[in-house]
Amino acid sequence: MSTWHYGLMADWWAAFNLDGPEVEVYRPYLREPVLDAGCGNGRLLVPWYREGVDIDGCDVSADMIARCRDAAPDATLWVTPLHELDPPRRYRTVICSGVFGLGSTRAEDEQAIARLHDALEPGGTLVLDNEEREWKWKPRDWGSEPETRTTPAGLDISLWSRVDWVDNDDHCVHLTIRAEASDGRREEHGLTMRWWYREEIVPLLERSGFDRVEVKPGVEERIVVYVASRDGDLQPLPR
Ligand SMILES: C[S@@+](CC[C@H](N)C(=O)[O-])C[C@H]1O[C@@H](n2cnc3c(N)ncnc32)[C@H](O)[C@@H]1O
Repeated sequence: MSTWHYGLMADWWAAFNLDGPEVEVYRPYLREPVLDAGCGNGRLLVPWYREGVDIDGCDVSADMIARCRDAAPDATLWVTPLHELDPPRRYRTVICSGVFGLGSTRAEDEQAIARLHDALEPGGTLVLDNEEREWKWKPRDWGSEPETRTTPAGLDISLWSRVDWVDNDDHCVHLTIRAEASDGRREEHGLTMRWWYREEIVPLLERSGFDRVEVKPGVEERIVVYVASRDGDLQPLPR
């Protein structure tokens, strides 16, 4: 089980993934303090941090945390996989965007939900988004044409990907990415992705202790957002 958000891939994220519609779409859910669980380079965390939101962040990749720290130097940021999340304080909102199911076993994913629950204050809210498309992964070799982009610092980075194996029973796929930069660096990183679907996630949230789970549309058709509340007495969320 692995994730590929290291080295040149972390550089790619830090250069090209600096904002997104989630910044506004998830804003109504923000009640401080906030944790961005799997914050990456801070695509969501950094804009909120710059507005003065009391927000912490964590991620399994030290390279992504380092890029995030460059942009949010005083924020509390640390390295952890979600299934070992043990934060220094409890939060009224936990955001988890584009992370669930990455680099982990099914048991670790289930443990991650329990840890996200325990990271909340009573009455706090988890906002978890998840990509849900028809499962049709198949192994394939490297594509011939890379995706190439130039960073603001003038470095060209090219990416190729390969699908190594597919587990149709566990809805899990493993990809390798090859990154080549114009300064001569050449890296390969692996990524496992488990695809979770609504009929599995809602019961998982409920048996992990969330007492109210709402399912909402995401920023794209293939994205589903789970808004799950830990039992308690905070004010109701905006509807
Ligand atoms: C697609 S990026 C999303 C980053 C950020 N949430 C955003 O919306 O821009 C996925 C991030 O999840 C992190 N990640 C992957 N698997 C993880 C795990 N099991 N626990 C914690 N972080 C993980 C990666 O290191 C990467 O930074």
